[in-house]
Amino acid sequence: MNLCSYSQKMKPYTSIVHTIFLLLAGLKLLSAQETYYCGGKPADVYFLLDSSTSIWFVDFAKQIKFVENMIELFEVAPNKTRIGLGTFSNSFYPQFSFKDYTNKTQVIGALKSIRQNYGGTNTAKAIKEMREREFNPLGARQDVAHIAIILTDGKSWSLSKTAEEAKIAKEKGVYMFAVGIGSNVDLKELKGIASESNKKESQFVFHVENFDALDSIKEILAIQTCEVVPNDQYRCGASGQADMIFLLDRLVMAPSRIQLIKDFIARTADLLDMGPNNPVRIGVFTDCPDSEDIYLNDHNDKYSFIKELKVTKDKSRIHTLRRVHRVGFSKNNGARTEARKLVILFVDSPLIDAKKVLLEAMKMKLSDIEIFVVTIGNEYLEKEMSRLASRKVKEHTIRVPSYSELNDSVANFVNLICESK
Ligand SMILES: *[C@@H]1O[C@H](CO)[C@@H](O)[C@H](O)[C@H]1NC(C)=O
Ligand SMILES: *[C@@H]1O[C@H](CO)[C@@H](O)[C@H](O)[C@H]1NC(C)=O
Ligand SMILES: *[C@@H]1O[C@H](CO)[C@@H](O)[C@H](O)[C@H]1NC(C)=O
Repeated sequence: MNLCSYSQKMKPYTSIVHTIFLLLAGLKLLSAQETYYCGGKPADVYFLLDSSTSIWFVDFAKQIKFVENMIELFEVAPNKTRIGLGTFSNSFYPQFSFKDYTNKTQVIGALKSIRQNYGGTNTAKAIKEMREREFNPLGARQDVAHIAIILTDGKSWSLSKTAEEAKIAKEKGVYMFAVGIGSNVDLKELKGIASESNKKESQFVFHVENFDALDSIKEILAIQTCEVVPNDQYRCGASGQADMIFLLDRLVMAPSRIQLIKDFIARTADLLDMGPNNPVRIGVFTDCPDSEDIYLNDHNDKYSFIKELKVTKDKSRIHTLRRVHRVGFSKNNGARTEARKLVILFVDSPLIDAKKVLLEAMKMKLSDIEIFVVTIGNEYLEKEMSRLASRKVKEHTIRVPSYSELNDSVANFVNLICESK
């Protein structure tokens, strides 16, 4: 059974699972012609079709036919599945948006009038414009699954730009399915586009040998489309509630780096739900609260001044950890009993006063506070970090090679903190 060949060689058990999957899909079709996939579960599904010159017009028509056949599997309605579609070559050509049509007949009618545009393969631009134009709060519904199905027959102009834009779309909660058609497809690119691209075998990558084979994947693609859950909000705890506090070591780190860390925190917050029910609460503690400021009249000799200056610096992280523990996670300051408690530390050098810091961290962990460590660069000490982070160290640390790459680690970080429990 070669209905969909994945980019990687399938392990035996995987193919068995898929076979069963396909059998079930077949049964579903046979036994219940009337029921559509997803049981009416709502989703906004966008098709992005390659319209470049390399596609023979007959094959372009086959892509359209494929979309039509797939749409047959969904229940199209304003409250159920809504369909949007765009084509791309050098540019992105929006054809219709989620809101444009309210039933299947209309959508299928609209498919008939789509023309091939011809030109190169600027997939990055198409993904970017699709995200900005269609998957924005006005275009797509909140709280339903956001899905993009991208069909392509070749290589885009820039593998890295394509992956970069795909990553942003995924960070914004769009599930990305990549369907490669023919032998010219760059499998690396498909993986870069698709969700779960960090997994060895992404369930979001499909590769078929030619345009005629497209139809063979429509059921499994439809099923997998229905499997995804709305990604607008990450659930970050069993109760769905998480209280997280980030530590900013302003005394230790250069202002430019602090800014990059702040951007990182801001983008993390952007991905989490701090909405009306406040499943997630976020705090930031710095190592220079007012109480540790040194006032002009605090010292009348340089020796005591220098001493305090040193003490403040040396003990900063210990003090901050202690304050987070006692003040940050106190009820009065917004901590909730049933919420997960998380502390996130950024580390770019060996710990100062490591023993005391680790002791303070230990006390927190004994109080059921989870400690996550984001290490930046290579100048930290591996052993210290693994003792600082909560147990199951791999699930509580993330390594970022340099400050400039911090920005790109946001999605991985959010996945880490929201899936580890
Ligand atoms: C959508 O569903 C809601 C609640 O189920 C219903 O009140 C509303 O009329 C529906 N709207 C449409 C356009 O079907
Ligand atoms: C689809 O919607 C259009 C416009 O609202 C309407 O004229 C048409 O009758 C609908 N078709 C079906 C099958 O519901
Ligand atoms: C981080 O990445 C986002 C999305 O790519 C971008 O909008 C933002 O400007 C970047 N920030 C920095 C500091 O590079």
